[in-house]
Amino acid sequence: MGALQDQVALVTGSSRGIGAAIARLFAHEGARVVLHGRDELAMSAVQADIERTGGRATSLRADITKFAEIEAMRGEIEKRLGPVDVLVANAGGSFSRPGPLEDTTEESWRTSVDGNLTATFLTLKSFLPGMKARRVGNIVTMSSAAARRPHAASPIPYAAAKAAIQMLTQDVALQAGPFNVRVNCVAPETILTEGNIQRIPDPQKAALVELHPIRRLGTPDDVARAALFLASEASGWITGVVLDVAGGAVMT
Ligand SMILES: NC(=O)c1ccc[n+]([C@@H]2O[C@H](COP(=O)([O-])OP(=O)(O)OC[C@H]3O[C@@H](n4cnc5c(N)ncnc54)[C@H](OP(=O)(O)O)[C@@H]3O)[C@@H](O)[C@H]2O)c1
Repeated sequence: MGALQDQVALVTGSSRGIGAAIARLFAHEGARVVLHGRDELAMSAVQADIERTGGRATSLRADITKFAEIEAMRGEIEKRLGPVDVLVANAGGSFSRPGPLEDTTEESWRTSVDGNLTATFLTLKSFLPGMKARRVGNIVTMSSAAARRPHAASPIPYAAAKAAIQMLTQDVALQAGPFNVRVNCVAPETILTEGNIQRIPDPQKAALVELHPIRRLGTPDDVARAALFLASEASGWITGVVLDVAGGAVMT
């Protein structure tokens, strides 16, 4: 029996990258996984992968910055599978470039806050009430090492939005704990997703490795295992924590 046997688990932003790895691992652990994103082709590839290895998955499309679309997705999940037991609010990304504050555009600020902080807020706002009412639920949110300490390579809007997700996580953990709902956060350093493998030049990857006491960059599976720990009974008495998945590059 898997660690998430028969639980309904929604992983937002699971058409690729970290979210896809979390979805694959959760399905391997027996969850009925809901894949989410906007790219239907990418979602169907992840779904086929999961089904090929005997897992269960379904896919839904929604813009995670729009509450009406999240609510419609929740309705569809409840119709197809029943209520969500485990929510990983992973969708997001760095939608701005590192640089001086004065060169940061208002548009990149708003896109980063909207695509990370507001998206996480709206996702929790949609799924938390049902979890509290049923007194069953587990939420994992996604921060970043960029939000754990100041760094010249961190885009300020992204770092600030992710730092706010940490406090959002902890305030919700405080409110939801009495309802048997745990809420925790994962904060990864640079992860070798498909996107980063292509985007980061090899010499920069080698330089980044040197910043990690564990001398390698993280993989999507490293993050997935941390998310599984927080989402499963293995962490049954843990709530409101921010778990650094950073090869020792962040120690708090
Ligand atoms: N990769 C890293 O090094 C790293 C480090 C620290 C934290 N993180 C965080 O980890 C999470 C996943 O990162 P990743 O690198 O795996 O990202 P990724 O490969 O770019 O994938 C992002 C996922 O989020 C979805 N998404 C983004 N905005 C969305 C929106 N408005 N509506 C619906 N779906 C949306 C994308 O869907 P579609 O592509 O289908 O549209 C995709 O599935 C993010 O929150 C990121 O900030 C990543």
